[in-house]
Amino acid sequence: MQTHDTVSAMQQLARETHAAGKTLGFVPTMGALHQGHLDLIKLAATKADVVVVSIFVNPTQFGPNEDFDRYPRALEADLELCEGAGAHHVFLPTKDTIYPEGYSTYIEEQSVAAPLEGESRPAFFRGVTTVVAKLFNIVQPDIAVFGQKDAQQLAVVRKMVTDLHIPVEIVAGPTTRDTDGLALSSRNAYLTNSQREGARAIPQTLEKIKAMVDAGERRAERLVAETTHLLADERRIRVIYVAVVDPTTMKKQTDVEPGNSLLAVAAWLDQTRLIDNTLL
Ligand code: PAJ
Repeated sequence: MQTHDTVSAMQQLARETHAAGKTLGFVPTMGALHQGHLDLIKLAATKADVVVVSIFVNPTQFGPNEDFDRYPRALEADLELCEGAGAHHVFLPTKDTIYPEGYSTYIEEQSVAAPLEGESRPAFFRGVTTVVAKLFNIVQPDIAVFGQKDAQQLAVVRKMVTDLHIPVEIVAGPTTRDTDGLALSSRNAYLTNSQREGARAIPQTLEKIKAMVDAGERRAERLVAETTHLLADERRIRVIYVAVVDPTTMKKQTDVEPGNSLLAVAAWLDQTRLIDNTLL
């Protein structure tokens, strides 16, 4: 496995890979890698000949009062994990490479990105779409893998790729969960043992709501109310949003369409912001 830190090295890698008739698969990350990231890398390796992972804690997707400075960083462990999962190349740009002095171009998707995370984190998706578009131009992958864990991010990236005619196939990887059901996240590192116990209420609630839909409930309003009620049982949780939405547009649905409805949740667990979702 090789590491690179320049744009020219990555663009040369793309030229060489494509000249050899091979395909390039890409998994963008912010590091502090866990099994969820590794599963995406493995998925990329089944779909492409050469697998590139990027590790870059992207400052533009953090709000002024968010956790950019304390976001977990673990480069050495990350590189070992990448290699173990089958990555061939890791791109480790500096902040100045991605955002040099005087940088002034941003990409904003204005529809899918507007509700949910967009409402609660105003700068977030503008930062994500900007950095992902830049990484696509640098890495020039044939396919790129994103996690269903961040369902709205996946939908926003798909919309950007369509709207901007970016020749990259977006592949979704399922959410990897811990044995207690909690979706793996780099931010879980912030949780104490007792907070973690509280956090379990989130996947447990999603499962109960899914069971209500399987039992025939279709009214989104009823499901959202029940989700909020179940989460309120855990005193450390403060709900940010609960919604039943179309997984492509993120628009609210009145009635669940089984297989085409997403229950999306964001909540504070004390000081830690957690998101999760399930397809209903
Ligand atoms: P990061 O949070 O590091 O996540 C990188 C990728 O891993 C994303 O596609 C995310 O959806 C996926 N992922 C995270 N937890 C997962 C889990 N438990 N199961 C499956 N996939 C999971 O998302 C970002 O970084 C950034 O916004 C990025 C796209 C890199 C742009 O900066």
